[in-house]
Amino acid sequence: MREAGKVVSLIFKRLEDLIRPGISTKDIDDLVERTVKEHGMKAAEKGYYGYPASVCTSVNEEVVHGIPSKDRILSEGDIVSCDLVVEYKGYMADACRTYGVGKISEDAQHLIDTAERAFFNGIKNAVPGKRLRDISREVQNTVEGEGFGVIRDYVGHGIGSEMHEDPQIPNYVCPGPNPRLQKGMTIAVEPMICEGNWKVKVLDDDWTAVTVDGGWAAHYENTIVVTDGEPEIITL
Ligand code: MF3
Ligand code: CO
Repeated sequence: MREAGKVVSLIFKRLEDLIRPGISTKDIDDLVERTVKEHGMKAAEKGYYGYPASVCTSVNEEVVHGIPSKDRILSEGDIVSCDLVVEYKGYMADACRTYGVGKISEDAQHLIDTAERAFFNGIKNAVPGKRLRDISREVQNTVEGEGFGVIRDYVGHGIGSEMHEDPQIPNYVCPGPNPRLQKGMTIAVEPMICEGNWKVKVLDDDWTAVTVDGGWAAHYENTIVVTDGEPEIITL
């Protein structure tokens, strides 16, 4: 998982240079595909429940699972979240970053920064002795404290030899399994947040989830390992 995580972080570094007005979301997919191949690894999203690409590219009001396309050209001021899973020797690393395209509004930057801050506040509780919901609560408080909404329909998750393992890790406090966190657990913590109401719907392509009210969304994710001390972030 650590080896896969290193390639995930390399991809994010390369995407920083690639993403600018005029590129297509297919260009993002090509870069991901090329970089995993170069390292003898696999893009685990491709073919997952029939998903057709190596990365999810979700633009503006798209929350998750946007499908890359050569016809989706990014413009100045857009934001695009790039969510990808690299697989190496049967083990997975999952992460997401939201990028601004050229110069973006202060509001959009605030949304992006809040998703990232929610992740880091949340994982302060990813230590033995605390419980799963302690992560969820910190994420929710951070996001709602800025006046933004927390997406309910998609959640973080355990990860290992499968992309999605138990437990589910909601970004808000709700009833459900609330295990104690233990050394060696590997989890993907992923705040998905929006400007307005958290309700989402899936478009006719059966993948792309968008906010119902059209507010923009941001997504920040890393795969982490619970240790004796601070969590280890393997996709940074
Ligand atoms: N990477 C996503 C997550 O954060 C899942 C992508 S679903 C897929 O859990 F179908 F695109 F693979
Ligand atoms: Co994930």
